[in-house]
Amino acid sequence: MNASFEITGGKRLQGEISIQGAKNSALPILAATVLTDGVSEIRNCPALSDVQATLNILRHLGCEVSRKGNTVFVNSQGVQNKPIPEDLMHEMRSSIIFLGAVLGRFGRAEMSAPGGCEIGLRPIDLHLDALRKFGASISEEHGKIICECPSGLRAADITLSFPSVGATENIMLAACTAEGTTTLFNAAREPEISDLADFLNASGAWIQGAGSGEMVIEGVRALSGCRHTVIPDRIVATSYLAAAAMTGGCVRLKDIIPAHIGPVLPIFRESGCDVQVKGRDVCCTAPPVLRAVKNIRTMPYPGFPTDMQAPIMAMMSVAEGTTVIVETIFESRYKHVSELNRLGAHIRVEGRAAVVEGVRQLTGASVVSPDLRGGFALVAAGLAAKGKTTVKEIRHIERGYEDICAALTSLGAEIKRMDEHVRQQSNE
Ligand code: UD1
Repeated sequence: MNASFEITGGKRLQGEISIQGAKNSALPILAATVLTDGVSEIRNCPALSDVQATLNILRHLGCEVSRKGNTVFVNSQGVQNKPIPEDLMHEMRSSIIFLGAVLGRFGRAEMSAPGGCEIGLRPIDLHLDALRKFGASISEEHGKIICECPSGLRAADITLSFPSVGATENIMLAACTAEGTTTLFNAAREPEISDLADFLNASGAWIQGAGSGEMVIEGVRALSGCRHTVIPDRIVATSYLAAAAMTGGCVRLKDIIPAHIGPVLPIFRESGCDVQVKGRDVCCTAPPVLRAVKNIRTMPYPGFPTDMQAPIMAMMSVAEGTTVIVETIFESRYKHVSELNRLGAHIRVEGRAAVVEGVRQLTGASVVSPDLRGGFALVAAGLAAKGKTTVKEIRHIERGYEDICAALTSLGAEIKRMDEHVRQQSNE
């Protein structure tokens, strides 16, 4: 069903907020349970459609899956090697992460190839090249990927030409039970990589150097299940800070890992926000008028995250002055720009750069969420805008933000979730 958010803007966001578990940690950790031979208890697992899509794949593979609150239990004892069909793979592009897990477990993996996505073509050449280094032969035909290594995976020395998050995860999953010691150079350093390594190590794997860019993984015979708590979502945390800052608000994030949002906090400070870190809490108070910041370039961690490009762009759209944002990670991640402009923002895209000329006030309008983070940017802009904003196609937003209406309402926002048929009736 197609739902939308109706927002009455202009309310100052204020209060405390707890942050959900990280989607980008939960997804690879859940996929990694395929490698284990017991029960995994994954705590702080957010209730999101992408997590649901991952659980559906696990069920399809014969795992027993249940959820109690935010804890997910996966019993992988009955896992079987079945091809993963298109309908399950296409729900979420990052399901490609099952490739390394299934191949590591069974020596063969067959799945539908993931398609393009809203933020541009997302090739998987780095994933496949790396798996070939483990001795796998790979064929791609009729939209299917078949990866085979009947005599078992053998460890390899791998250097990534770009520190891809997904490729790093697939390599880690394949290397855990490969024969010998794998060394991975130029690995992604995102906190979610370290979280996956922590889960795998607690399950009996031997991984060193996660988060440092150079990883050594000694293959072990088998993995058991374990109990693991997913790290707080750094992107959701800073998204709420951006939304609050746009409304001139003051928000305390409770119990996060402040170091993980370190690459984004300088932007808040530079724009005039007062940011205080106290233990695991972060408090951000916005000035009456935000200031534009110098250039922002998206970079692999610990650089400024591409996932925060859209929410920070929304924030800069009401800052005094001009901000230039350069998107270096994805080639087509500016679909929110035209929608922000519908709300009165002044943003123009020139190649990989977006020039954001701050305006005094946005005004409500009807806009369409183009993707997950772009969708959040529109919600944040709607909260700051004068009048009513409708954000359509919110299924994208609900892939990554758990209970977003409740979270924002608790901070004083006026936002309602409308199902399509309710909206039609109320338009009559
Ligand atoms: C992950 C995150 C996503 C985030 C991104 C970058 C998950 C589920 N998603 O996505 O939220 O925006 O990291 O921080 O964790 N590339 C190739 N060939 C490959 C793989 C990637 O050319 O084989 C390119 C991509 O097209 C893109 C760039 O590398 O331009 C970054 O991609 P990658 O780091 O792999 O991102 P994801 O793992 O897909």
